[in-house]
Amino acid sequence: MFDSLTQPFRFFTGPDFALQRKRWAMRAAAATPLGTLLLRKLYAPPMPELECEAFGMKFSSPIGIAAGFDTNGTMIDALSASGFGFVEVGSITPRPQNGSAARRLYRLAGDRALIYNSIIESAGVERVIENIKRTRCHTVLGCNIVKNHATPECDAPADYLRSFRPLYQYADYFTVNVCDSSGPEPFVPRTKEQVEAILEPLFEFRRGQNQYRPVLLKISPDLSDEQIDRLTDIMLTMPLDGLVVSGGTTGRYGLENSSREIHALGRMPGIMCGAPLKARVLHIVSHISHRTKGACPVIACGGISDADDVEAMAGAGAILIQICTEYIYGGGSSLKKMQAELAERVRWDRAEAEGEERRRQQEQRKQAQPAAEGATSAAGTGSAGNDTDQEETKQQES
Ligand SMILES: Cc1cc2nc3c(=O)[nH]c(=O)nc-3n(C[C@H](O)[C@H](O)[C@H](O)COP(=O)(O)O)c2cc1C
Repeated sequence: MFDSLTQPFRFFTGPDFALQRKRWAMRAAAATPLGTLLLRKLYAPPMPELECEAFGMKFSSPIGIAAGFDTNGTMIDALSASGFGFVEVGSITPRPQNGSAARRLYRLAGDRALIYNSIIESAGVERVIENIKRTRCHTVLGCNIVKNHATPECDAPADYLRSFRPLYQYADYFTVNVCDSSGPEPFVPRTKEQVEAILEPLFEFRRGQNQYRPVLLKISPDLSDEQIDRLTDIMLTMPLDGLVVSGGTTGRYGLENSSREIHALGRMPGIMCGAPLKARVLHIVSHISHRTKGACPVIACGGISDADDVEAMAGAGAILIQICTEYIYGGGSSLKKMQAELAERVRWDRAEAEGEERRRQQEQRKQAQPAAEGATSAAGTGSAGNDTDQEETKQQES
């Protein structure tokens, strides 16, 4: 009784409302060109060191925002102006779908983690397309698609195609979400055959188009390594372009400072995201990279919160990075700090590499000098020899 009476008030002080406020503020800030400029000035100073290429596209930074923050494509300008190198919108469902709980987001602040326990909330593909059309910026745009919650699993392939087809001309790449475990009835197809049945109609459609859109598969961290191997093997038989590793986990591991909160939540279902995921994601990225000898491009996503994490994921084989929870906690300042540190490290590495190159060239010159001096003296002997020749000729003539 008390709980239901205080529910609305708790909503206004809870993390759901805080996230809503952040989204409203970002949308409002980016609603005008001046606001967008201000966002850029505040959070996204130019960092050409971070420019990179992946999947045949150019990115202003390797760090993008993961699906779940901008579910309906209403913040693409704001997120791009805040410094993200790419924006993944979604998950997008073919038909509109409301979230399943009034309160969806729970903070485990001591572990920089979140629990999200709602089915995916989406305005539906038609509305998302309207929002994308209003975008002014030219960032790389990913569209993350998933089936409607009410669609039975056997009809899942048709649902994915229902969103893929109309979005095709607006997206730069697609993420096929097969790790929807946030709601009460998770949808996480685990076998190669189930996932191939979803992908095949999408590839069939892509084959008939003039423009190529990379298609990535977003997997769950709760799959076993063997299951992940089987899904990675899809790349051998189908034109899948890469993996997003990963979505949130239904596990409650890696929590050192949140036992009170976890106890209070009891057995509540939902996905956990944020720092505790990092070790598992790092393991999966490195496992895929070793097994495929780098032939499977991976976007790492899960628990990444600073420049060290980005470097660790890149070291394990990731070609791009996505963040979500860290952005919900730390906002634009956190992203700016992460990118500034990375840019600084790239500058250092380049300066070091240039210094090394200069030292190598100096060394080469030094080694070449005595040889050149030897050659000069040898050349001197040569001219003396010529003199002797000339003497001999003169004597012969006389
Ligand atoms: C509030 C919230 C909503 C999310 N919604 C989606 C979603 O709709 N689709 C999806 O593929 N992932 C979703 N995710 C998962 C994130 O995209 C990401 O995979 C996960 O949070 C791990 O990254 P992180 O540790 O940086 O948060 C959501 C995550 C959070 C925290």
